[in-house]
Amino acid sequence: MSVTELRPAGSNPVVRVTANCLLAKKRDQVPISAITAYDYPTARLVDEAGIDVVLVGDSLGMVVLGYDSTLPVTLGEMLHHTRAVARGLRRSFLIADMPYGSYHVSENESVRNALRFIQEAGAQAVKIEGGETRAALVRRLTDSEIPVVGHIGLTPQSVHTMGGYKVQGKTWEAYDRLCRAAEALEGAGAVAIVLEGIPRELAARITGELRIPTIGIGAGPDCDGQILVFHDLFNLTFAPHAKFVRQYGDGPSFFGAALASYREDVARRRFPSDAESYHLPREMQVELELLEPAASDR
Ligand code: KIV
Repeated sequence: MSVTELRPAGSNPVVRVTANCLLAKKRDQVPISAITAYDYPTARLVDEAGIDVVLVGDSLGMVVLGYDSTLPVTLGEMLHHTRAVARGLRRSFLIADMPYGSYHVSENESVRNALRFIQEAGAQAVKIEGGETRAALVRRLTDSEIPVVGHIGLTPQSVHTMGGYKVQGKTWEAYDRLCRAAEALEGAGAVAIVLEGIPRELAARITGELRIPTIGIGAGPDCDGQILVFHDLFNLTFAPHAKFVRQYGDGPSFFGAALASYREDVARRRFPSDAESYHLPREMQVELELLEPAASDR
C-alpha cells in the first residue's frame, strides 16, 4: 500500500475561487484558466498549479473509464469522481458535469440530481449541455441555489443528433441559434458558458455580448477563458488529437520510460534495495543470527 500524505491541518488558508471571481476576471479582462480533473492526485496538481477552474467533465467516460462516448457515464460515476476531486482542491472553482440522462427527464429530478453534486460531492456549480431548450431548467436550478454553467456548440451528449463530433455554428441559422442560446442561458441565470467546437468569430461575438464569462474549448482565443481535457494536455488519450489541442507534456514517454525501468529493475533484482526494505530491530537480528547461523558458518 502506498500512503498519500494528506494536507496537515492548519496549513495556510487559501482564498477559494468563486463564480463572482470569474465575473470579475471577465470584467477586468483577465483570462480564466480551466482544466478537467477526475481524481485526487490530478486535482491537487491542478489546484497547486494555480488553475482557476476545475471541471469534473463527463469526458471521464472516454479518457478514464474507456467508454467510446460520454453517453454511458452514470450519475453515480460522476458523483464518485467529483468527491475525489473535491478532496484535492483548496483554491480552484469546482464544476461538475451532469451526465446524460440526469437532467433530461423532469425538472424535479434534475434539481434533485444537481443538488447531490453540491451537497454530497462538494461541487460549486453544475454544468449542463444545451441551448435555449435548457433555459427553463437553468432558471429552476439557479432558483434552487445551484450555480449553473451552460455548454453550447459541440455538445458531446448530442453526438447522435449532431451526427458525429462536428464543429457547430457554421451556417447563419446555426450561428444565430447559438447566439440566442447564449443569451437565453445568461438570462436564465447561468454563471458561465462553455463554448465548444465553434468558429472563432462566433465565439468572439458571443463573448462580446455576454456579461458572464465564456470558457472556450476549440472556440479560439477570444473567449474569456480556456479549458482543456487533462488527458489531451498530456497526450494520454491513445488517439490522434483534435486541431484545438495543444500538448504540454508527453505522458506516454514519461510513464513508459519509468515503467520500463521498473520492470527491468524487478527482473534483474535491482528493486527493492536493502535501503528500501524494512528490518527487524538490531537485537532481534542478533538473536536470529544465533538461531540461524549463516549458511557459510555451517
Ligand atoms: O466533459 C468535458 O470534459 C467537457 C469539456 C470538454 C468542456 O465538457
